[in-house]
This record gives sequence, structure tokens and C-alpha cells, in this order.
Amino acid sequence: MERVAFRAMKDGTGEEYEFLRGVEQEWARGHADRILKAMLELDGGLDGYLVSRLTHCLQTATRAERDNADDEMVFAALVHDIGDVLTPLNHSAIAVEIVRPYVREEVTWVVEKHGIFQDYYYGHFIGRDRNAREKYRDHQWFDSCANFCEYWDQASFDPDYDTFPLEHFAPLVHDIVSRGPWQSPS
Ligand SMILES: [Fe+2]
Ligand SMILES: [Fe+2]
Repeated sequence: MERVAFRAMKDGTGEEYEFLRGVEQEWARGHADRILKAMLELDGGLDGYLVSRLTHCLQTATRAERDNADDEMVFAALVHDIGDVLTPLNHSAIAVEIVRPYVREEVTWVVEKHGIFQDYYYGHFIGRDRNAREKYRDHQWFDSCANFCEYWDQASFDPDYDTFPLEHFAPLVHDIVSRGPWQSPS
């Protein structure tokens, strides 16, 4: 079978849906390369900073790696702003769903909340509450997110920093994605 015959989902057969499952598994094998390709989109737009969004992401991941963060956290650092192109008003959302299947809950939480936590650095300049993160003060991963922002994210707008190129992180992305969905221990 090269393609299905149905024109409405309800008319598909079991054989056709089995065929499509195989197609989707083949498509999934290219997931890592699609993530890396999407990162390249961050090289344009958002003028006004000293570095592109791509360099910011690479620098965030570079700092995480140099601080001996584990590979799940480095992966998160790399893609944490990947949503800036398509969802600039809620940019954490896309990155959250990219990392969620492959990393522990702590890392997903950090990516999800980093937008609120980074307001600590500039929210008061643009009419937002810089201390909005305080509602999470007692959360078990507050420090993890605060440190992500302090040491890696907010610090990574430096054009003179020795930032690793995207190729450096390609094996990591392939490795993380090839692990398959991460299962939380119960
Ligand atoms: Fe961000
Ligand atoms: Fe960022």
C-alpha cells in the first residue's frame, strides 16, 4: 500500500490505519532533524538584541553544559525559546510540548515556568510584576527554575561569549529523541 483510499477518517479500514502507523513511525525518525531545522528559524527576527534568538538559545545551552547540567536540562536550554517564532505571546508553550515526552517532570516544569520567572529581571520595566514567580516559592522546583533563568537564560545575550554552534548539540538532540517517551517512576 502506498497510500490509503479513504477520504473521510470514518471510512478507513484497520489495514489502512496499520499502514499509517508505520508511516508515522518512519516520520518520527526524522524528529530530531526537524527540531534542529526549526532552531535555524530563530536566526532571524527579534532585532534589537545583541544576539539572535538562535545564539541566545545556543548560549543558554552552552552555559548549562559548562555548568555540568544533565543532558535533559541542556536539551531544554537549547529549545526553551523555540516558540518565539510562532507563539511570541506565549512562547514557552511550544518548547514545553517538545521536551515533555523525553525529559523528567522537573525539566518540563522549568521550561513551562521560565517565562514567568524571567519577569524577575525586567517585568517591572514594562508594567508587569517582577515577583510573579513568588507564587511558586514553595514549589519543589522553584530553585531549579530560578537557577535556570539566573545562570543560563537571562545571562545569554552576550555576543562575545564562546557559544557552541548548533552542530555541537545535534548528537544530544538525536540521543534524547531516540530514547522514546520518558516514563515517570511511580
Ligand atoms: Fe524565554
Ligand atoms: Fe530565553
